[in-house]
Amino acid sequence: MACKVHTLDDKKLEKSLFGLTFKNPVGLAAGFDKDAKLYNELTAFGFGFIEIGTLTPLPQEGNPKKRMFRLSDDSGLINRMGFNNGGVKEAVERLKKNNSGIIIGGNIGKNKVTPNENAVDDYEICFNELHPYVDYFVVNVSSPNTPNLRALQDKKPLTEILVKLKTLNASKNKQRPILLKIAPDLTDSQLDDIIEIVSETKIDGIIATNTTISRENLKTSNKKLEEIGNGGLSGKPVKKRSTEVIQYLSTKSKKAFPIIGVGGIHTPEDAIEKLEAGADLVQVYTGFVYEGPGMVKKIIKKLLETNAN
Ligand SMILES: Cc1cc2nc3c(=O)[nH]c(=O)nc-3n(C[C@H](O)[C@H](O)[C@H](O)COP(=O)(O)O)c2cc1C
Repeated sequence: MACKVHTLDDKKLEKSLFGLTFKNPVGLAAGFDKDAKLYNELTAFGFGFIEIGTLTPLPQEGNPKKRMFRLSDDSGLINRMGFNNGGVKEAVERLKKNNSGIIIGGNIGKNKVTPNENAVDDYEICFNELHPYVDYFVVNVSSPNTPNLRALQDKKPLTEILVKLKTLNASKNKQRPILLKIAPDLTDSQLDDIIEIVSETKIDGIIATNTTISRENLKTSNKKLEEIGNGGLSGKPVKKRSTEVIQYLSTKSKKAFPIIGVGGIHTPEDAIEKLEAGADLVQVYTGFVYEGPGMVKKIIKKLLETNAN
């Protein structure tokens, strides 16, 4: 029987969004279970949904190690993993055996060797392979660790990818929700473009946000930051900017689409901040690393007590 120590089931925590019923609104963000190896075991930590990936068509090593660093003084992490994964086909073989019952998101990207002009083909391959086995999709164009990937957030290439996936989706027996994951480093005018793109392509929602390339307002010394080098910063240092992006998208679009809020959630109050800013669901990664296995239960317990869900 599954371990229930860190889980909490209550009908009042359920949330229906884009045709799916989430048993609670706190999910595991992408990057933790990149290869769909652990989602069964991870259900024991109370998550309402788990996002696997980022997966790419071909297996790839990612960047040389060491590529993940703790910023303990800031409760943050810097990573430059670079989409290390065993390729979409291997993940599919594992997902075929899935009987976990948990909602699984499939986060998809492009291989490092694929030039941006051909990126759409990589997203298409991953989409087709995973389509029968995941409940929703996330188009990741916001990782700072694949050279030039974030240029795909520009209107033209992004619209091309999303229109392609929408068309493919329409041709399937069952349609899966498609979300777009964005960086916290976009300007207001780029966020305005994102709102327009969601409205034009009619995708199902936004995940805000990925890690940041900013190094502002950190307690960690510049010397240490220089030693660490490039990478995406996550955890408490990205919390404020991530909430701002959610608030901006929600207000400016007049709540035109669902938002999954992620970035620096370590406590129940952090989760409530995201929900109040306009997020419909939230995800965690770095907070789970720092706060440990009881974290999700603590959050959802508070959501129940405060009716903040
Ligand atoms: C080590 C590490 C690896 C990550 N890998 C991915 C990834 O493969 N795809 C992705 O979309 N986001 C990835 N992320 C970003 C997280 O999903 C999340 O958006 C970000 O870390 C902000 O949330 P947090 O502050 O709760 O960690 C990764 C984050 C970390 C720390």
